[in-house]
Amino acid sequence: MRSLSIFGVTGSIGEQTVDLICRAGGAQAFRTVALTGGRNIARLAEIARLLRAEIAVCADPADLPALREALAASGTEAAAGPQAIAEAADRPADWVMSAIVGAAGLVPGLRALAHGRTLALANKESLVTAGQLLMATAAAQGARILPVDSEHSAIFQALAGEDIAAVERIILTASGGALRDWPLEALARATVAEALAHPNWAMGQRITIDSASMFNKALEVIETREYFGIDPDRIEVIVHPESIIHSMVGFADGAIMAHMGSPDMRHPIGYALNWPARAPLPVARLDLAQLATLTFRAPDLTRYPALRLCREVVRIHGLAGAAFNAAKEVALDRFLAGGIGFMDMAGVVETALDRLSAGESLGKAATALEDVLAMDHLARTRAAEAAAMIGKTG
Ligand SMILES: NC(=O)c1ccc[n+]([C@@H]2O[C@H](COP(=O)([O-])OP(=O)(O)OC[C@H]3O[C@@H](n4cnc5c(N)ncnc54)[C@H](OP(=O)(O)O)[C@@H]3O)[C@@H](O)[C@H]2O)c1
Repeated sequence: MRSLSIFGVTGSIGEQTVDLICRAGGAQAFRTVALTGGRNIARLAEIARLLRAEIAVCADPADLPALREALAASGTEAAAGPQAIAEAADRPADWVMSAIVGAAGLVPGLRALAHGRTLALANKESLVTAGQLLMATAAAQGARILPVDSEHSAIFQALAGEDIAAVERIILTASGGALRDWPLEALARATVAEALAHPNWAMGQRITIDSASMFNKALEVIETREYFGIDPDRIEVIVHPESIIHSMVGFADGAIMAHMGSPDMRHPIGYALNWPARAPLPVARLDLAQLATLTFRAPDLTRYPALRLCREVVRIHGLAGAAFNAAKEVALDRFLAGGIGFMDMAGVVETALDRLSAGESLGKAATALEDVLAMDHLARTRAAEAAAMIGKTG
C-alpha cells in the first residue's frame, strides 16, 4: 500500500488532494502518515479520522489541547508547532504533498527531500526562496520533485521525452487576475474583496490576491528558472484571460507545445499523485467548439510592476528570491490588514529590495538554510519599515 503525507491539508490544495485520495479509495488504498494544518483544528481532525492518519500536527502549540480533544479515541497522534511540523516530514512516506502557504512550507519540504522522498510541490515559495538548496538536496538524495503549480506541471508534461537543450523559450500564461480589465488609475483603490474575485480559478486567499497583482506570476518566473534551470531571458509571460492553456514550451525548431485543460487544480495534483502513469481524473473536459476563441495579450508592466521586479531578482539570483518572497509576504499582510493600498505592495517590495541590494549580500548563493532564513528575516524587517513609511504617507 502506498504511503503519503500532506502538509497544509486544510487549505485549497490540501482539500483537493484529499478529494482525489478519497475518490481513489481513501484509507483502503493509501496509508496516511502525517497530516498538517494551520489554525483549522476541526477540519484537520476530521480529515485525520477520515484517512486514519498516524499523526496530525497543527501550527500553533496553543491549539494542541483542542486538537487532542478532537482526535480522542481516533488512534491518531496529535502534535503542534513548527518543529513538530518539520519532524512530521522525517516520518517515512512514499509521496509527500507540500501545500503549506508561504515560506513556512520550506523546511518540511526540504526535510522530506533530505530523506529522498518524492515531493509534490505546490508551495512555490520554497523554490523561490531556496531553489538552489532544494534542487541540490533532491539531486544529492535522488529525490524527485513533481511540480504542482499548474504552469510548471504543464511545462513538465510538455517536456516529457524532450531534451532541455532544445528548449528555446518557456511561455508562462497568466489569467491577469481579478482586476485585469480595471482602468489603471482605479487600481490604487482596489479593495481586498475586489482583488479576491478571481475570474477562473478557486484558490486560497493569498495566492488569489497575488494573481491580481501578478506577484504570483513573478514568483513563477523565479520558480521556472530554479526548477528547469533555464536562462531567465528565455522565460516569457503572456496574459491569457481564458486560463485554458496552462503554459507552453517553445523548441529550437519553432514548434510550441501547449498544455490545455479546464482550470481545475485537481489536474496537476492528480498528475503528480499518479505520475508516471495517467489515471482518470474528475475534471471537466474541454468543449473546444464551445470555447471557440483563445486570446493572448502582452502584460503591461505599469499595471503589473511585480513582473518588472522579478527580472532583477532572477538576474541577481542567490538570496534575492528569499528577499523578494519575504518582502512580498509582508506587503500582502499589510494590504490584507488595510494598512496599504493594492499598488503599494509593489512599492514596499521594491523599496525593501533597493535597501537590501545597497548593503547586504543578495547575490550570495542560496545553498545554506541559515543564510536563506537570515535573508528572509532581514527582508521582512526592511519590508515592514517600507510599509510603515508608505502607510504614513499614503
Ligand atoms: N490554491 C491553488 O489553486 C494553488 C495553485 C498553485 C499553487 N498553489 C500554492 O500552494 C500552496 C498552498 O496554497 P493554497 O491556496 O492551498 O493555500 P491555503 O488555502 O491558504 O492553505 C494553506 C495551508 O497552509 C496552512 N498554513 C498556513 N499558515 C501556516 C503556517 N504558518 N504553518 C503551517 N501551516 C500553515 C493552512 O492551514 P489552516 O487553513 O488550517 O490555517 C492550510 O492548510 C501555496 O504555496 C500556493 O502558492 C496554490
